[in-house]
Amino acid sequence: MQLGLQGKVAIVTGGSKGIGRATALGFLGEGAAVLICARGKEALEETVRLAGEQNAGRIAGMQADLTKGEDIQAVVTRCLETFGRVDILVNNAGSARPGDFLTLPDEAWVDDWTLKFFGYVRMARAVLPHMQRQRSGVIINIIGTGALRPMGSYMIGGAANAALNHFTKALADEGAKHGVRVVGINPGPILTERLQRFLSTFSPGSSSPEEALARMTPLGRVGKPEEVADLVLFLASERAAFIHGANITIDGGANPGLMG
Ligand SMILES: NC(=O)c1ccc[n+]([C@@H]2O[C@H](COP(=O)([O-])OP(=O)(O)OC[C@H]3O[C@@H](n4cnc5c(N)ncnc54)[C@H](OP(=O)(O)O)[C@@H]3O)[C@@H](O)[C@H]2O)c1
Repeated sequence: MQLGLQGKVAIVTGGSKGIGRATALGFLGEGAAVLICARGKEALEETVRLAGEQNAGRIAGMQADLTKGEDIQAVVTRCLETFGRVDILVNNAGSARPGDFLTLPDEAWVDDWTLKFFGYVRMARAVLPHMQRQRSGVIINIIGTGALRPMGSYMIGGAANAALNHFTKALADEGAKHGVRVVGINPGPILTERLQRFLSTFSPGSSSPEEALARMTPLGRVGKPEEVADLVLFLASERAAFIHGANITIDGGANPGLMG
């Protein structure tokens, strides 16, 4: 299938690791240019190195903390200065801590929502005027199946993800007026650093938490970052031109409900 992404310009937040890195490398493989941003310099440089000589002119890495409004504006400015436009935004940098409801302080809720929810809102608000002027663009929110399966031990992330499923649909309603498509992706367990961290604090009563998660997935395994990246590339492409305002689950069948 030809995706037709050649010459497109994408911003991938949190593009230095995990799902973001796989997505950035996927865009490069399709001939697009990518600006990746994250806090850590080392992983950004490693991702640019992994992109290889052949993609050297089409990838830029930028240090940014997306809990800060000024860093968000700076990312968009840098993308416009480097590549001249922005066609695709992948909102991906996010993380929310699991834990006991009565123990987690206000700061945990505020900090995690500032990145995972408000970071996505602010990035979308920063790129939308440019996409409106172009009368084209795609915004993809990487959310999470925590939205669909409320759990006492993962309330901060679950509630932020539920809000982002709503935000995706509401932004799609807004974006449609200007030719901007908006789609959400709800990944289940995907084997990245974040999942490893999560597993170290959450064990559903088994000898190996990873094994337990694999058992919770009818396919019997956790997902790969590249499998989510493939979905992002398709959704960002013209082949998905009629997919708008949808939140799509990719979880090996783990979510048993009718929604997602
Ligand atoms: N992996 C899963 O099982 C899973 C499941 C459901 C949903 N998700 C969602 O998918 C997205 C990616 O997850 P992942 O597993 O690929 O995570 P990951 O491996 O931990 O990578 C996260 C990326 O975000 C960056 N980041 C973190 N905080 C940031 C900040 N304040 N400002 C800028 N960048 C920041 C990280 O770099 P620095 O730390 O250097 O900043 C890194 O590049 C997240 O939104 C996550 O909630 C993942």
